[in-house]
Amino acid sequence: MGGLFVTFEGIDRAGKTTQARLLAEALGDEAIAVREPGGTAVGERVRELVKDPEVEVGPEAEALLFAAARAELVASVIRPALEAGRVVASDRYLDSSLAYQGAGRGLGVEEVAAVNRFATGGLEPDLTFLLGVEAGAAAARAGEVDRFESEGRALQDAVLAAYERLAEAEPERWRRIDADRPAEEVHADVLAEVQSALAGTPA
Ligand code: TYD
Repeated sequence: MGGLFVTFEGIDRAGKTTQARLLAEALGDEAIAVREPGGTAVGERVRELVKDPEVEVGPEAEALLFAAARAELVASVIRPALEAGRVVASDRYLDSSLAYQGAGRGLGVEEVAAVNRFATGGLEPDLTFLLGVEAGAAAARAGEVDRFESEGRALQDAVLAAYERLAEAEPERWRRIDADRPAEEVHADVLAEVQSALAGTPA
């Protein structure tokens, strides 16, 4: 498969959505931006469901819902784009499930990884940016509060620690980026890394 699969991870409000969009815009027709959960009819419904504070979902069902949305997105959007040689910039991907459901909800990272191997057919990102912001600063960024954010600091801390472990385990895939900076500065670093990955040389 050609193309380059780039994912953005981090705690809520680290600026992942903006960075995925800026990357896709910078690359023009060569690239698309997607978000998780979402990006397909099924995915958008799952998004409404899992973000709704009124809807109670157990941890196993929650992990499966995210995996179902991901299966649909991989099959109908991500794989076809990669096969056409494009860059896919995704606002979250399977590392979000490993961090939030595996670690945050205590389901176990390996258990959640197994479900996701089935869902994605084993598709892994080529490059993953961990957008780092201090948790308090992220909480202070304006916007609506969803079910995950309303669960507070303990969940965010567990998620952050899980991301750190994932990044340490696969240093060739992960790039840590300081996201406590203007979006354009963060974007410049992201673009440089992506361009060097496209050129097949380390930055
Ligand atoms: P979203 O609005 O995309 O998050 P962000 O605040 O990063 O913009 O909401 C998605 C929420 O779902 C977010 O709190 C993280 C969570 N999530 C999981 O728990 N597991 C997953 O696999 C994914 C993709 C998201």
